[in-house]
Amino acid sequence: MSNDYSALTSPSLLIHGCEMVSAMTNRNSVPTDGPVWTIVLAAGSGRRFGVTPKQYEFLGNDRVIDHSLAVSRAAADHVVVVLAPGQEREGAELVETGAADVAVTGGTERADSVRAALAVIAEDAAVIVVHDAARPLASGELHQAVVAAVHAGADAAIPAIPVTDTIKRIAHDQNGRSVVAETLDRSTLVAVQTPQAFRADILRDAHASSAGATDDAALVEAIGGTVIVIDGESTNIKITGPNDLAIAAILFDALG
Ligand code: C5P
Repeated sequence: MSNDYSALTSPSLLIHGCEMVSAMTNRNSVPTDGPVWTIVLAAGSGRRFGVTPKQYEFLGNDRVIDHSLAVSRAAADHVVVVLAPGQEREGAELVETGAADVAVTGGTERADSVRAALAVIAEDAAVIVVHDAARPLASGELHQAVVAAVHAGADAAIPAIPVTDTIKRIAHDQNGRSVVAETLDRSTLVAVQTPQAFRADILRDAHASSAGATDDAALVEAIGGTVIVIDGESTNIKITGPNDLAIAAILFDALG
C-alpha cells in the first residue's frame, strides 16, 4: 500500500451481459489496465436508522464500515473513504490502520461525496469503483466482476438483481392521497446495487456537472455511456433501517 495519499483532506436499456449501444465509441482508446481505486461512501447521516449512523453499527466483531472497507481493500489498489463532517478523527484512524489510503469529508448529497473523493484520486487511476459502506456483505467476487467488465470494454458495470415485488408509480390526488398512476412491467425492472465500476475518465466526466443522482451509473447514462448490468447478489443488502441490520446479521452468519 502506498502512503502517498495518506492525507486527511477536507474537502436506454439495461441488458444483462450485453453492452448498450453507446454514443461514446472513442472512449475505448483509453487504457483501463492502470490502478483501480475504490471509493467507499460513508458520509450519510443515517437519519432513517436512528442515533448511531448505520455504518458504525456492529456486524459480528467488526463495524459495517470495516467490512465494506476490507472487501474494497482486497479488490483495489487504493481506497478512499468518505466520511461525514466531524468524523476527521475516525478518518485519520482508518488511514493509520491501513483500512483506507485517504479519508475525505463528504458533502450534503451522495453525489457531492463522490466528487469529494474524485478530487483526491490520482490522475493515473484507470478504473474507479464506487461502493456504499452501507452494503457490507458484497463479496470480493462481485467487486472483481464489475472491474473485469470495465476491463472488457464497458464504460461502467453495475450489479443488479431481479425485482420480485410488483412496482407501481404513484401520484397524489387533490386530497393529498396516494393513488396509483401506473403499474410497471416487472420483467423489465432490476434493483441496482454497489459496487459499481467505471472507466475513470468517464466517471470524472459524468461528475463534471453538479447533477445529483442516487447512483453514479445514472450520471454515466446521462452522458451516453455504456452501462453493463451483471448479476448482483441477493445477500448484498443495503443497511438502511434497524430491520436491515438484523437481517444482515443473519446473512453474515450464514455466509460464514
Ligand atoms: O442514503 P443512501 O442509503 O442512498 O446512502 C448510500 C451510501 O452513500 C451510504 O453508504 C451513505 O453513507 C453514503 N452517503 C454519502 N454521502 C451522502 C449521502 C450518502 O457518502 N451525502
